[in-house]
Amino acid sequence: MTLAKTRSVSLVGVDGCVVDVEAAITSGVPGLHLVGLPDTALSEARDRVRAAIFNSGEDWPNRHVTVSLCPASMPKKGSTFDVAIAISLLAAAEVIPARACADLVLIGELGLDGRLRPIQGVLPAVLAAANQGCRTVVVPRANAAEAELVPGMKVVPASTLRGLLCLLRDEPPPVEEDEDDGRSFPADGLAIRQQDIPLDLDLADVRGQAEARQALEISAAGGHHLFFAGPPGCGKTMLAERLPTLMPPLEPDIALEVTAIHSVAGTLRPGQPLITQPPFYAPHHTASRASMVGGGSGRVLQPGAVSLAHRGILFLDEAPEFCGGTLDALRQPLEEGEVRISRIEGMACFPARFTLVLAANPCPCAAAKQIDCSCAPGMRRKYASRLSGPLIDRIDLKLELTPASRAELRYDLEFAESSKVVAERVLLARERTVRRLAGTPWRCNSEIPGPELRRRFTPSAEAMEGADEALQRGALSARGLDRILRVAWTIADLAGHDEPGPDDVGGALTLWSAGRQ
Ligand SMILES: Nc1ncnc2c1ncn2[C@@H]1O[C@H](COP(=O)(O)OP(=O)(O)OP(=O)(O)O)[C@@H](O)[C@H]1O
Ligand SMILES: [Mg+2]
Ligand SMILES: [Zn+2]
Repeated sequence: MTLAKTRSVSLVGVDGCVVDVEAAITSGVPGLHLVGLPDTALSEARDRVRAAIFNSGEDWPNRHVTVSLCPASMPKKGSTFDVAIAISLLAAAEVIPARACADLVLIGELGLDGRLRPIQGVLPAVLAAANQGCRTVVVPRANAAEAELVPGMKVVPASTLRGLLCLLRDEPPPVEEDEDDGRSFPADGLAIRQQDIPLDLDLADVRGQAEARQALEISAAGGHHLFFAGPPGCGKTMLAERLPTLMPPLEPDIALEVTAIHSVAGTLRPGQPLITQPPFYAPHHTASRASMVGGGSGRVLQPGAVSLAHRGILFLDEAPEFCGGTLDALRQPLEEGEVRISRIEGMACFPARFTLVLAANPCPCAAAKQIDCSCAPGMRRKYASRLSGPLIDRIDLKLELTPASRAELRYDLEFAESSKVVAERVLLARERTVRRLAGTPWRCNSEIPGPELRRRFTPSAEAMEGADEALQRGALSARGLDRILRVAWTIADLAGHDEPGPDDVGGALTLWSAGRQ
């Protein structure tokens, strides 16, 4: 009997685990037996591996071959084990030296022609391998740039199985390795592409709307959720789309975290492996619950919009038009900063910490002026109530916009600050927050948990007077109070105050209470 071993990675959501792939060749009835893979994946992998080996000019070992993937209990989906299966099998057949592949981690799908096809989720897979002490990983060439983002990992790109075999045998590579990197992702109905917003958007494009601009600044500085209500054409969409221009680039560890999600989703752009800017996602109001929170029955679990917007912005334009179930599904990720999707094979978890921005017209007829509204009495209220109380309760900053006046539209040009100027203030405020939160896991004010907020970050009694009074009147709930405190800290950080004063708390209270009767 001859034995050989190599490794690969199994991925559930963005969590990876190193899997041992062992091949044994024994006398007995010729055939390939795969152990430790689910049935459907099993037969597909067997066919691909067999064809790829044949088309790479190698002989198929005409003996009894067993390849086992362990731990066997671990859920294994998709086709990422193909290369490891082929290599372990060929090592057991002594086509390549067994020691050449023992310490490698091999990730990739095989085409029938022997090409290494790129897979989704390379970044989290390689991150997991690195965390579990692996040092060298072989990936499809098209995934190499993404794999190289992982510090301390040696990445060996391979285009074809033949090329990889040459490498492992210390032979010169085959001439003319095809340049085509085989990049064609499976079309999965749930995949949402990264949405492009034009790069030249600037806050200076917005005239007037001083309060809305300030709310955007506070949201960017503290990560607070935002709700714009107002008649058509008053600039809700325009304002929301400019929020990303105020946010600082992602810090290196966060950038990796965000990229890992987009790697699984297949939404990374070729040639741009690392996402460094906060993502902006604006799903259409017809979006299903599954596309919002993730799931899917495809080969790979798809993260939903809430995860694709992780560390960035999830913008729901025309929010009341979304179906109730889709909106309700937002509550759990809003509360916990992650989504859990339960599957037959177990639970998958995707990070989902985003800034929620909602925009809504006051009524379904969308009349520009209230006087022109043709909606039946009660209709306006009903429309607004589609955004359920618990959801609106989680929004820190609520604004009722009115259209900018003609004078503002005409003359405000020179007063309107540019995104660059505001982004600099946001950055300073964030630095102040980070200094204060040093030694804690939180980076911005919106992340501070309630109990901690009340224990360590309560403003002076004088500053709290207005809020206390609102509490007593019943105009403010305990949860509302926490939200106000967080925003008050962000307003103070923007103003350079050591702690929130009466004006900072008052400002937060106003922004929280608007839009409620
Ligand atoms: N304050 C403003 N400054 C500059 N342009 C504005 C302003 N408000 C509105 N506009 C102009 O009006 C257009 C419509 O704005 P926008 O689409 O953002 O409105 P909206 O509130 O989202 O409307 P709807 O409810 O119909 O979606 C903008 O593209 C812009 O040209
Ligand atoms: Mg709009
Ligand atoms: Zn109406």
